[in-house]
Amino acid sequence: MDSSKFLILGGNGQLGKALQAQYPNAHATDVTELDITDIQSLQSFDWSNVSTILNAAAYTNVDGAETPDGRLSAWKINAMAVGQLASIALEHDLTLVHISTEYVFDGSKKVHTEDEPLSPLGVYAQTKAAAEIAAAIAPKHYICRTSWLIGEGNNFVRTMLGLAEKNVSPAVVADQIGRLTFTQTLVKAIDHLLGSETPYGVYNITNDGQPASWSEITRLIFKELGRNDLTVTGTTTKEYFAGKPDTSPRPLHSTMDLAKIKSTGLDIADWHEELRTYIKKEVQL
Ligand SMILES: NC(=O)c1ccc[n+]([C@@H]2O[C@H](COP(=O)([O-])OP(=O)(O)OC[C@H]3O[C@@H](n4cnc5c(N)ncnc54)[C@H](OP(=O)(O)O)[C@@H]3O)[C@@H](O)[C@H]2O)c1
Repeated sequence: MDSSKFLILGGNGQLGKALQAQYPNAHATDVTELDITDIQSLQSFDWSNVSTILNAAAYTNVDGAETPDGRLSAWKINAMAVGQLASIALEHDLTLVHISTEYVFDGSKKVHTEDEPLSPLGVYAQTKAAAEIAAAIAPKHYICRTSWLIGEGNNFVRTMLGLAEKNVSPAVVADQIGRLTFTQTLVKAIDHLLGSETPYGVYNITNDGQPASWSEITRLIFKELGRNDLTVTGTTTKEYFAGKPDTSPRPLHSTMDLAKIKSTGLDIADWHEELRTYIKKEVQL
């Protein structure tokens, strides 16, 4: 596998940074070098030295996508651009690795398998569902569905570490259940898919382990920090977002079935272990 022919899009995002760490020889771009919504730039790009597109670029502001401007951006970046990338992959015989989300489901099922019909709730979710359909136009595609991503960037764990530092005892939703996904786990799985020539298609990729709610995860974070003085009050998603306009509906059940990716021979770490390691690194305990 020659990673010097990999093209990373959205290289400065959480996943983009982890992909760069895994593939230092790859060509990593961000919006300033290659804006994936700019059709001219995509068409004039030299694809002759690319074997694989790793698309880590996205509009990830879930609530922002519910605003008039955000809706336009989300559709352009998350869906229309992916259609362009899939056409390019088809034309140049490239592999397209695209990242999706459990938000493509309404969350009514407790555990999501790869073959569950799409049922997105909010605008972000709808754009990501459209992108899955578009990405599959590329004959050589891996659509990696992940959830609750934690890496180098803004994320839930960093937000909770920040609250602890400010001595805040927060109210956190207790009715959204899922598993965290650390970027190194996702990157390891992508590397495994590409390296083992696993059949193309859709794969659920999250960390393994007992699913938990956001409030339970927050309690674990505070416990790991030794902050017994802080309390976490469980609240419902409905209560938490009451009176906040332009908030997106969210699936209550985010847990994804990992049988398909595990059947390809990949070992997946438990999110509890990864969380402890991440916290140690963040706060240098
Ligand atoms: N974060 C999660 O919890 C989560 C959960 C499930 C799935 N996912 C999916 O996982 C993938 C990676 O997420 P992430 O958390 O790493 O996202 P992220 O940190 O928000 O990074 C996204 C990157 O895309 C770049 N970008 C935005 N518009 C672009 C454009 N037009 N052209 C090129 N680059 C552009 C952004 O650049 P700027 O910052 O300069 O705009 C940013 O560097 C996404 O597909 C996301 O939908 C994320």
